[in-house]
Amino acid sequence: MNKIKVMTVFGTRPEAIKMAPLALELSRRPEFDALCCVTAQHREMLDSVLDIFQLRPDFDLDVMEPRQTLSTITAKCLLGLEKVFKQVRPDLVLVHGDTSTTFAGALAAFYQQIAVGHVEAGLRTWDRYSPFPEEMNRSMVGRLAELHFCPTAANRRNLEAEGITKGLFVTGNTVIDALRTTVRKDYTFSQDILNRLDYEKKDVILVTCHRRENYGQPMEDIMSALAFLAGTYDKFLEIVYPVHLSPVVQECAHRHLDGIPNVHLIPPLDVEEMHNLMARCYLVMTDSGGLQEEAPALGKPVLVLRRETERPEAVAAGTVKLAGVGYDEIVDMASGLISGSGEYDKMAHTVNPYGDGRACARIADAIAWHFGLRDTPPDEFGG
Ligand code: UD1
Ligand code: UDP
Repeated sequence: MNKIKVMTVFGTRPEAIKMAPLALELSRRPEFDALCCVTAQHREMLDSVLDIFQLRPDFDLDVMEPRQTLSTITAKCLLGLEKVFKQVRPDLVLVHGDTSTTFAGALAAFYQQIAVGHVEAGLRTWDRYSPFPEEMNRSMVGRLAELHFCPTAANRRNLEAEGITKGLFVTGNTVIDALRTTVRKDYTFSQDILNRLDYEKKDVILVTCHRRENYGQPMEDIMSALAFLAGTYDKFLEIVYPVHLSPVVQECAHRHLDGIPNVHLIPPLDVEEMHNLMARCYLVMTDSGGLQEEAPALGKPVLVLRRETERPEAVAAGTVKLAGVGYDEIVDMASGLISGSGEYDKMAHTVNPYGDGRACARIADAIAWHFGLRDTPPDEFGG
């Protein structure tokens, strides 16, 4: 049997968390010759994920530079991937989501007339500038790809509304597959502050914030609101904030929050630590996409620090709310949830709109079916 040569391409932390389980699933299957290329759009934050999943990339473009711009990332990835694709000639290139690596990966493959499979396809806000540049990246990859692995049925409908009707599969999100391997009841954290927090008696709020469209006034307001909440509820609130390594974010977070005793600014957590902290915390406040998917599966309410979301499923299920990026709205919404309330209880339940832990198996089956190695397509998540 001729093996199908499938190359996964990714570069940032969230892509790695969501692609590593798939890369490993492909490498376990005899019908595939599974290869992996990282752009290293992120460096430390990517390597930490590769270590946890024990994934060794076949190619590493090492493109990251401090304060990189969208153009430099895209140009470096495009040129680097052209060389790799010419050398390897994969039958299929898999990209994930909406980053600059994702867009450059799909475009570089298209230029070599190599088929593209898009993992986490079909999420839309319909606002071209938010999330920026991710909404546009994701839409453009939708045009370039031949196979579209949609986490949910709503994501599939978004693509159909754009006239993309072939090669669609509803698979669930691979992040839920990842979550099943990382969360453990007896987990001990490597950062001791996380072992010392009293998760029973205190409201431990997990915060992350990094989006480009929040740079400037929105991020200033988010950080001021966190400082106000920490001061107002200092008797029973602990804020844990693993700060993204972006210098823009580091500067803003430390300027507003340094020296507040119940705010813990810590380095980015590795993915096991993050998932286990999320499993123990009281509330999540975040502008991250991935956290919006993970927290509902762990029964944790989320306030989204954005004006919109391309992940409306958990909002509909009542466990995620849009808090916006204004100081007053963030303070009001968080205050309403702190220290137990009917509102909190309504939000704190486990829902799984994003997956059932079998997304990687479905994607691998769909690829095998596409290349004629299986008689039937995979079952649909939620079907
Ligand atoms: C990128 C993605 C965003 C995703 C986010 C996940 C794009 C356009 N944006 O944004 O969709 O939500 O990753 O975190 O692709 N840095 C380090 N070490 C690291 C990682 C980053 O020092 O391991 C610093 C560097 O100075 C780098 C900066 O962070 O220049 C920003 O990284 P970049 O990938 O450009 O943007 P993110 O905000 O991380
Ligand atoms: N994450 C992590 N350590 C951190 C912050 C986030 O492992 O300190 C994980 C998180 O659990 C999720 C993913 O990184 O799986 C989300 O990445 P990020 O928020 O950087 O990007 P986004 O999802 O917004 O694109």
